[in-house]
Amino acid sequence: MTQAPLTRADCEAMDRADPLAGKRGDFALPEGVIYLDGNSLGALPRRVVGRMQAAVAEEWGNGLIRSWNDADWYLAPQRTGAAIARLIGADADEVIACDSTSVNLFKVLMGALRQQQGRGTVLSENGNFPTDVYVSQRVCDQAGRTLVTVDPAEVPAAIARIGADLAVVHLTQVNYKTGRLYDMAAITRAAHDVGALVVWDLCHSAGTVPVDLNGCAADFAVGCGYKYLNGGPGAPAFVYVARRHVADFWQPISGWHGHARPFAFGHDYAPDPGIARMLVGTASQLGLIALEEALKVFEDVDMQALRRKGQALGDLFIRLVEQELGGHGFGLASPRDAAERGSQVSLTHPEGYAIMQAVIARGAIGDFRAPDILRFGFAGLYIGHADIWDAVAILREVMDGRLWDTPEFRAKKAVT
Ligand SMILES: Cc1ncc(COP(=O)(O)O)c(C=O)c1O
Repeated sequence: MTQAPLTRADCEAMDRADPLAGKRGDFALPEGVIYLDGNSLGALPRRVVGRMQAAVAEEWGNGLIRSWNDADWYLAPQRTGAAIARLIGADADEVIACDSTSVNLFKVLMGALRQQQGRGTVLSENGNFPTDVYVSQRVCDQAGRTLVTVDPAEVPAAIARIGADLAVVHLTQVNYKTGRLYDMAAITRAAHDVGALVVWDLCHSAGTVPVDLNGCAADFAVGCGYKYLNGGPGAPAFVYVARRHVADFWQPISGWHGHARPFAFGHDYAPDPGIARMLVGTASQLGLIALEEALKVFEDVDMQALRRKGQALGDLFIRLVEQELGGHGFGLASPRDAAERGSQVSLTHPEGYAIMQAVIARGAIGDFRAPDILRFGFAGLYIGHADIWDAVAILREVMDGRLWDTPEFRAKKAVT
């Protein structure tokens, strides 16, 4: 049975029925912009603006160093971690906000391998985010292990094949290029069955997919604060260590903020007994304040509803691209089945870079990943169904008029 073509009015009706439509007002989005890049840098929550003004002018400007105590700066990593824990199925004392995802990956991989003496292999996937591969590779070099990467569909078979030699499985739950989503529970179970530990990178799932780390008995996880968590450019990242691992976790970067008593200024390192051992040095406090404030937007959000909306927006996008853009040479790089995707849909096109630049110039912002991927992210807190219609209309205008084919749009910028 063929479906009747959708219209903008249909999309507007979907927006009227959307229980999350009101959340858009929580964000300071510029007029005339359709922001489909919240999977790369989340939008600005309005409440962060006033909070940052106060943090800079009052807490830093007037409070000066007293604010570590008087403005409760010191425990912001723990408080922010607890707010993130709620979104990723962890307990408040299993997550802490600190450093970058790359640095946190190094910590958990080094510590996990230390627990897995006698096992020689780390398993990851082909196409994992570069920092995941680079950090894994160096950690393996230092720890005398071998990194094996396989295609995503081969991961379960590789776990079984490597078996007793498998130390750690290290995967990103939602792939940055394709949006493909792993079955976290099944992979974690399979890894545990052969005695391996699992490290999950949640950069593209935290704040949009209802992750259940404890329900899956995951061991370790990392993720960033600046994508769906809306913490701002370069926001602090987070790290999760399952309670059963915390007390014995060997933190490779033994900085003073991970010490049990940093202000005793003792000579020897003694890690904090809890999750604070994952800290290294002084927090990037302004970034942490922005992230902590941004997370308040999630306090009344039902993550299952947000997930359903992200899936619906992705389905709508695919349907409209097929309805409006047939014959323009686009391929679908993401799974068609919404259950197998995060909140992003990626298209392929040999002229993808120039096309994306032309689309951005007309007000619909996505991004490009080499060699040929156009990424469109659907952050359900501030994107509606009519936005998807308008973005596809812009894409169609760009393609029908070959508006992308100019030296200006072909010129590569440093950040794509
Ligand atoms: C899956 C994944 N992991 C890690 C990172 C990078 O982390 P950071 O640059 O914050 O260390 C990214 C950035 O986009 C990512 O997509």
